[in-house]
Amino acid sequence: MKNIQIAIDGPAGAGKSTIAKIVAEALQFTYIDTGAMYRAVTYEALQRQIPLHDEQALTALAKQLNITLQPSSDGQLIFIDGRDVTAVVRSQEVTANVSEVAAHAGVRQLMVTAQQKLAKAGGVVMDGRDIATHVLPQAELKIFMSATVEERAKRRLLDNEARGIPSTLEALKQDIARRDQFDSEREVSPLIQAEDAVFLDTTTLSIEEAAQAILQLAHEKM
Ligand code: C5P
Repeated sequence: MKNIQIAIDGPAGAGKSTIAKIVAEALQFTYIDTGAMYRAVTYEALQRQIPLHDEQALTALAKQLNITLQPSSDGQLIFIDGRDVTAVVRSQEVTANVSEVAAHAGVRQLMVTAQQKLAKAGGVVMDGRDIATHVLPQAELKIFMSATVEERAKRRLLDNEARGIPSTLEALKQDIARRDQFDSEREVSPLIQAEDAVFLDTTTLSIEEAAQAILQLAHEKM
């Protein structure tokens, strides 16, 4: 059995993190949620009232922050300078602003280097937007996961309900479509499927079915 790298990319709400966590647990690999790192920088920038268009200031902030990840029974905890920010980086304010922060090349460079270090030893399932194309172009298994906007918004609605976050299907659809467009059209590392990635449409798949499909592909590479 090899300690391979598994890259999972795709738009918001495709099921990446839920499915990646199950795959990582089944293989006893480390799960790394790269979106949480961009969210952490965004959260701190909002706290410090740094303008989100100011690439230089945001890059300096990202350089200064000590962002660390820790596996947990729930997937992953994230810390900024030792403070647990796992819950607060999921706020609607951070979600609404993270794509703007993640579009800056200076911020991305720092995050990508940190992510490459985390994945170096292998035995990782990493999810994000540019994992197969930029972070781990040598990953043994690359998955591009998607689902219709309608289905992704429905999943987010259920997720929000479970967390007690008020939202509506229409607002979530709009937010997802806006983030898709922003992430896919940005200049630096846009969200695109790598040529050698396997496309997985999760619209009609259960979480378990999608995880099993990836596990089967992973076993073929191990
Ligand atoms: O995965 P999640 O929804 O938490 O990601 C939040 C945002 O972070 C995405 O909408 C995207 O703008 C950015 N992101 C990115 N590259 C990654 C992971 C996330 O640009 N590898």
